[in-house]
Amino acid sequence: MNKKRILSGITATGKLTLANYIGAIRNIVKFQDEYESYVFIADLHALTLPIDPNKLKENKKNIYALFIACGIDLNKTTLFFQSDVIEHGLMNWLITVNTTIGELSRMTQFKDKSQKIRTSNGMETIPTGLLMYPTLMVGDILLYDADLVPVGADQKQHVELTRNIAQRLNNKFKTDFKIPKPYIPEVGSRIMSLSDPTKKMSKSDINEKASIYLLDNPEVAYKKIMKAVTDSEGKIYLSDTKPGIKNLLSIYSSLENISLQETEERFKTKNYGELKNEVGLSVKKFLTKIQKKYDEVINKVDLYASCGAKKAQILANKNLMKLMKALGLKNESE
Ligand code: TYM
Repeated sequence: MNKKRILSGITATGKLTLANYIGAIRNIVKFQDEYESYVFIADLHALTLPIDPNKLKENKKNIYALFIACGIDLNKTTLFFQSDVIEHGLMNWLITVNTTIGELSRMTQFKDKSQKIRTSNGMETIPTGLLMYPTLMVGDILLYDADLVPVGADQKQHVELTRNIAQRLNNKFKTDFKIPKPYIPEVGSRIMSLSDPTKKMSKSDINEKASIYLLDNPEVAYKKIMKAVTDSEGKIYLSDTKPGIKNLLSIYSSLENISLQETEERFKTKNYGELKNEVGLSVKKFLTKIQKKYDEVINKVDLYASCGAKKAQILANKNLMKLMKALGLKNESE
């Protein structure tokens, strides 16, 4: 029987954070033994907001190497740059013409990001790419006909849109796209900012103290955890009214691979300083380990990426052709 398939990606907009690891990469790594795995660096998605070309080049390479450093095994996972597989561009158009403006403008990420631009600059400056971003993502998923899409909670709506569009294509054009399921981890699907635990940790946050970057000096990362905003109650327990504490417990639980309840049990008689110290040490140990591996692979990225793209393109092309035939753009015999 054919193995089921996962597909996931990370946008090359900034430096990868611990939240990207806990919310997505960690699960992608776990799934690679059991599933056929396709993973990519979404460089086309990174163009939806202005980005310096040199920065983009640097981000792409770093993210590729960090995937490997975090445990992606190139013998098990096909890891590639999105723009190396040109099928993504054409697929995006085929999805775009099967989507409505209403569907796209209802996406929470579009509403949030466009609202920020609107308040600072005005309506006309909202880039079209911001609205179209989900069609590119739907295309990414359908090109690999994925069963499962491991992502953090903020991407759930985009995977749900993919499910709707796959169903729509199957009904209208008699295609047989799988209806992909999101995989959102129970713990760590929304890691919060260290400076404001009511906001998610984000690689586009301009406040560097709010995030742990995977390439942070481990000592600096330890200090960021020690300064994380919590609350003034002084008691450690899990509650949505204590987002700072919950966040630290979630980080520890994910990095140490123990349940959130066990983590709470372990710290319930400790004080905030002790909790931060333990979480900080855990983060430091993790960063030290992955950065060693990162240094070993960073110079081999170009070679690895071109092999990954060749393999990815075979599957992407097959699914693109399937849709082109169904839409009447190609003959069945071609
Ligand atoms: P991106 O680059 O914003 O984030 C990469 C992954 O990290 C997860 N994540 C988080 N998880 C937990 N807590 C957080 N604070 C946090 N912030 C980010 C994201 O949910 C994501 O899983 N559109 C996608 C990239 C993409 C994609 C795809 C993903 C493009 N095409 C197809 C899956 C399938 C994005 O921008 O993720």
